[in-house]
Amino acid sequence: ATLTNRTIEAVADYIKSGAADKIVVMTGAGISTSAGIPDFRSPETGLYANLARLNLPYAEAVFDISYFREKPEPFYTLAHELYPGKYRPTITHSFVKLLHDKGLLLKLFTQNIDCLEREAGVPDDKIIEAHGSFARQSCIECRAPYTEEEMKAHIEAKTIPRCHSCQGLVKPEIVFFGEQLPAEFFRARDLPAESNLAIVIGTSLTVQPFASLPGMVQDGTPRILLNKERVGGLGGRPDDVLVLGDCDDGVRRLCDALGWRDELEALWAE
Ligand code: OAD
Repeated sequence: ATLTNRTIEAVADYIKSGAADKIVVMTGAGISTSAGIPDFRSPETGLYANLARLNLPYAEAVFDISYFREKPEPFYTLAHELYPGKYRPTITHSFVKLLHDKGLLLKLFTQNIDCLEREAGVPDDKIIEAHGSFARQSCIECRAPYTEEEMKAHIEAKTIPRCHSCQGLVKPEIVFFGEQLPAEFFRARDLPAESNLAIVIGTSLTVQPFASLPGMVQDGTPRILLNKERVGGLGGRPDDVLVLGDCDDGVRRLCDALGWRDELEALWAE
């Protein structure tokens, strides 16, 4: 085994030894819940458990491209609530920025569309937004781009934006069910195999192809999971470390073991 044992302290020792200079981080909605943004699948608090008011045939329909074509209103109702700008990055986001500042971050793969990793200061070229984001918007028919100002105005007014050239529906470039992931995702897909430490945080690992990333990390490369529950078969390899519970707590414990705690808190407070 690469780690001396399967504890946070052993992971910290591994990082301190200098062996983990190509870290891949994979995140999901769980890293933003403490910012006030619900995740999707938590039984009571998750978004999918609280969409009755939208009268959907099934919860995921709100992010389904065929459903959106027929009924875009539910998505725009939700977008009004989720639109970036109202939320502040969590200490877990700052932890990823700290890894970058220390020159250890190879890549962050996120499924989140809240743009909080950018807001925490992780540079664009280090982030793969696997499910897109609210940063750009375009027509779903002719792909013509649409301005952010206009999109903002529609989302605030809860009205449906239409393409100026073809009258097609416009939507933020969030990846819906039934749509391809961005090309950047596929270009970066080999990076987990090149990493010397993988950190998985706040995701149920239920949506493919993202869910397959931790499996592409080589055997013998430590993988650490910071999550409320065990997911995706993590824990199944000799060098897997499970840190079950709140991820902000897990990140703080890891930074305590690394001697980085003050730096982390200072970065978050900026
Ligand atoms: P999920 O809601 O499926 O999973 C969130 C995970 O984070 C669960 O395992 C929770 O237990 C855990 N969690 C929640 N709060 C936490 C906390 N404070 N600390 C630690 N763990 C916590 O969210 P994702 O895995 O991101 O896709 O969902 C994947 C994709 O499904 C999303 O990107 C979205 C959704 O449908 C699209 O919309 C295309």
